[in-house]
Amino acid sequence: MLSERFYITTPIYYVNEQPHIGHVYTTTVADVIARWHRQAGDQVFFLTGTDEHAAKVADAAAERGLAAQAWADRNAGIVRETFQRWGISNDDFIRTSEARHKKRVSHYVAQLLETGDVFLGEYEGWYDAGEEEYVPEARAEEHGFRSPISGRELVRKKEENYFFRLSSYQDDLLRLLEEHPHFVQPDARRNEVLGRIRQGLNDVPLSRTGMGTWGIAMPGDPEQRIYVWIDALFNYLTAVDRSDRRAFWPAQVHLIGKDILWFHAVIWPALLHALAKVPGNEWIGLPGQIYAHSHFIREGHKMSKSLGNFIDLDSLDEIVARYSLDGLRFYLVTQGPMGIHDADFTAERFADLYHAELANKLGNLVSRSLKMNARFAEGLVPVPGAPGEAEALLKESAATSCQEVAFHMRRLAVGKALEAALSLAAATNRYLDEREPWKAAKDPERAASVPTTLYHCCCSLRILAHLLLPFLPDTAAEIFRRLGLEGVPTPLEPTRFDALSPGLSTTPGEPLFPRVEEA
Ligand code: MSP
Repeated sequence: MLSERFYITTPIYYVNEQPHIGHVYTTTVADVIARWHRQAGDQVFFLTGTDEHAAKVADAAAERGLAAQAWADRNAGIVRETFQRWGISNDDFIRTSEARHKKRVSHYVAQLLETGDVFLGEYEGWYDAGEEEYVPEARAEEHGFRSPISGRELVRKKEENYFFRLSSYQDDLLRLLEEHPHFVQPDARRNEVLGRIRQGLNDVPLSRTGMGTWGIAMPGDPEQRIYVWIDALFNYLTAVDRSDRRAFWPAQVHLIGKDILWFHAVIWPALLHALAKVPGNEWIGLPGQIYAHSHFIREGHKMSKSLGNFIDLDSLDEIVARYSLDGLRFYLVTQGPMGIHDADFTAERFADLYHAELANKLGNLVSRSLKMNARFAEGLVPVPGAPGEAEALLKESAATSCQEVAFHMRRLAVGKALEAALSLAAATNRYLDEREPWKAAKDPERAASVPTTLYHCCCSLRILAHLLLPFLPDTAAEIFRRLGLEGVPTPLEPTRFDALSPGLSTTPGEPLFPRVEEA
């Protein structure tokens, strides 16, 4: 397969507070996608990071009597450390307060000033402080002068700003969304955006006042600071705008939540269009896709600051301690809100699925297979006899799982992909139930079938480990280890079913997913 470049990003997270399940969700899904592409041999660049120049970051710092930078440093440190601790495979972590980012953003904005797309004007209207978003009059009225996202009251604002002529990109944007149906996904989200663009576009502030020295100074007018959303969107570009990384641009996927779709699907491509007009910037093409997932709610209720019901880092740490990191990843990936529906995070469903899918299906398969291999094959991958019909069927199940995982991953349907991988565990359990090696071993007429059965079972486990690697990396690594494949360069060709060499020594071990008693 030809190696392709694959650049994927998450939103950069505000550092006014500590991260919560929403941030962990988007990042985990992006991690799965990045790992899958790496495994497929692509050259991957996976970016995440923090968005620091928001007024709410400065406010949160002030409430604590801290400088904005000190508070941002602390919380960005927590985000970075959390992602590291949880094995997120990002290739870089960008902070908007870093010099490398600020320098590039000033440069882009200075270039925008030359395009004629920026003018000095006055903003009088509504502002959604929670989302750091200017809300057009009609939309504000439509939502009863409350935030369309959080429902909190909008703030009336009057300030002098530099504006970006978003309105002049209306036709370009319509064409982009109409001619490239994959640019915004899922389809229902694309239709929402198209509907809003058709209602007409307002020019948007590019800078704001009243930020003191927090934020990036507007070139030539340092009283003004670059509006935090403009600053933040540019992170996707600043991180790769250097000679050794430019080839990664444009990103294939900006993975985001539905709450920030407008910025990504409308303002971002318009900014890029404008920038690309500047001589020397021809390389700045548009990203391949903006994928906006929906939200997690909790036990049937929307999570909000006022309800104080966010699943925060401490709760997530507790879940990991009880159910393992892969237990958490499994739930996020299979039950999470990719697609257009919000998803409910419930403790009961978490426990049920963990036991049914991970402990009983996957964990049990690995335990019983390797225990039997120890008992009936001296703990060595056996030399098989001729495969029969059952083996052909198992091999076919493996091939189907491989194809289905790839099919769903290409559509970012991570949940369906993981289910397709696990269907191989179910097929292998059925295979064992049918072949009954534990009985066959005691039956002189069938005893010869045992090495064949156990060999094919081990082959199936190897494929399963390959398929699980992007989703449940610790579990996959442990299955490889128990198959005697630790440190063995695993072939990039997971689909060759019987590539497993007889003679490797296998180790049964503790259950991969021990049962967890209710708290
Ligand atoms: N800083 C901006 C993004 C700038 S990107 C150039 C921002 N940050 S945020 O900290 O508020 O994080 C927003 C992202 O977190 C959402 O887009 C989404 O990816 C994720 N989530 C926040 N709450 C969520 C849920 N309840 N459920 C799932 N994900 C959600 O907006």
